[in-house]
Amino acid sequence: MYVYDDYDRQILTDRVKQYRGQTDRYLKGELSENEFLPLRLQNGLYIQRLAPMLRVCVPYGMLNTKQIRKLAELSRKYDKGYVHFSTRQNVQFNWPALEHVPEMLKELAEVEMHAIQTSGNCIRNTTTDQFAGVSPDEHEDPRAYCEIIRQWSTFHPEFAFLPRKFKMAVCGSTDDRAAIRVHDIAIEIVKDANGEVGFRMLVGGGLGRTPVVAPVIKDFLPKQHLLSYLEAVLRVYNQMGRRDNKYKARIKILVRAMGVEAFSEAVEAEWAHLKDGPATLHEEEFQRMKSFFTAPQYKQLDNEESLSAVQAQRAEDIAFDKWVSRSVRTHKVAGYSSVTLSTKPTGVAPGDVTDKQLEQLADLADEFSFSEMRTTHSQNCVLADVETTELYALWKKAKAIGLATPNVGFLTDMICCPGGDYCALANAKSIPVAEAIQRRFDNIDYLHDLGPIDLNISGCMNACGHHHVGHIGILGVDKKGEEFYQVMLGGNSGLNTSLAKVLGPSFKAEEVSDVIAKILTTFTQLRNDEELFIDTYRRVGIKPFKESVYA
Ligand code: HEM
Ligand code: SF4
Repeated sequence: MYVYDDYDRQILTDRVKQYRGQTDRYLKGELSENEFLPLRLQNGLYIQRLAPMLRVCVPYGMLNTKQIRKLAELSRKYDKGYVHFSTRQNVQFNWPALEHVPEMLKELAEVEMHAIQTSGNCIRNTTTDQFAGVSPDEHEDPRAYCEIIRQWSTFHPEFAFLPRKFKMAVCGSTDDRAAIRVHDIAIEIVKDANGEVGFRMLVGGGLGRTPVVAPVIKDFLPKQHLLSYLEAVLRVYNQMGRRDNKYKARIKILVRAMGVEAFSEAVEAEWAHLKDGPATLHEEEFQRMKSFFTAPQYKQLDNEESLSAVQAQRAEDIAFDKWVSRSVRTHKVAGYSSVTLSTKPTGVAPGDVTDKQLEQLADLADEFSFSEMRTTHSQNCVLADVETTELYALWKKAKAIGLATPNVGFLTDMICCPGGDYCALANAKSIPVAEAIQRRFDNIDYLHDLGPIDLNISGCMNACGHHHVGHIGILGVDKKGEEFYQVMLGGNSGLNTSLAKVLGPSFKAEEVSDVIAKILTTFTQLRNDEELFIDTYRRVGIKPFKESVYA
């Protein structure tokens, strides 16, 4: 992973000092609420329903064990002993006291972490595949590009006050595991006919009130132009995006208003000034950044031998077998596997991990995965480089600390926003609905029979919980002061991205799990053999689901 140099360290130290001064002045009444607002947002601090919320940046989801232990310590010292993994691979503290935040930032800086640009109308953390660098289906490791974008964007003076927040995601593989097409800019690493690496650029996707799947605006952008082209897109957005209406300020609205063609022409015109200028990505600089993401010291292992050892253990232990089938992924290096640890046992808010668990995770990462861990877009964690013969030992330890629920990719591995329990914007609670569904569908055999299903929940139409791209989406709505839930079907967040359609009138909280049960029964009646939920839905449409739910 990227390692800070003296400049990086100095920048963070100065920034912490600056923010400490700003917080002090606010607390003494020398800065007004309005003056302090943009300052705290630039340092990741929201004020929520019950307390502030500090969002800490985890570049492309990578954490080393020193950082994980620091997060644990901070959550114990300044919060309630847990943190939340967010859908954009970041980590959130839900209960810090405003006056403690400068100290938290100082301690984070000691382990090369910060909360800069994790909120406010700026370029946010660039996200990517949690299996970056280790997945067999990868054209190229996206992390060096993410780091380059991060360094270019974090303090870019021109883009510190955009019309709205701005999110980018990069995908380097044949499958998309980072929901890239619902980002403001989706960058797909592709190769041209000569094998040259470049990018397919998709601009103007996003969720929120108006969900949009990003359209392609450039089929092939040669590698050296990445930053100058991003600069052109952002410049067009910064100049032409709406600032008069928050709900129409995202780039997706601009792209739609101008039309994709006119928008890309405007970008090309802007790019003409920038192309081959100072933002050109020279091979030397690329290689320098890439050198931070070299492979760890893998052993020479025999794949066949490792696999047959695990096969024997799987045959003996059904629980281990089930876990492997959901949690373990093929690694591109022989004898290694990537492991997803589910943060979603029944009764735990999706993405919440305690201080103890964090420390135990760090121990697991030290023991099994070269002292690194990754967070995922679906709020889980990944140990990317585990020796296949160590899986059984890892599983036992992960199980003991509640991180081996074999539900990865299943209905109960849901994405869920903080909702009315924490978020000031919520129309309804999300977490209790998630929990009711987890309790109702706690039978792991039934979940295995159903196969992979994405269920995503948001507490309001801002869609932080990605309900539009869930195979099943649940959206909290307010009806005359009462909490109701709209159910939608058919969303998907892979490269074959689709937006969900509303099933019909909304339901009371206590009805939601019955509704899900009816949808699942309809699915099992209509599916062909092992057909996936999303494929059955695409084949039969919404009608049979509607009929069974509203019968
Ligand atoms: C202040 C209250 C809010 C809270 C606590 C909140 C919480 C979250 C969380 C935890 C995430 C995962 C993201 C991350 O790490 O950055 C997220 C993402 C997201 N939020 Fe929010 N959010 C809030 C306000 C909003 C608003 C006002 C909007 C839109 C108008 C919005 C739209 C989204 C969307 C669309 C995503 C995810 C998808 C994407 O990246 O485009 N959120 N939010
Ligand atoms: S979807 Fe709404 S309720 Fe949920 S976190 Fe986002 S803004 Fe808050």
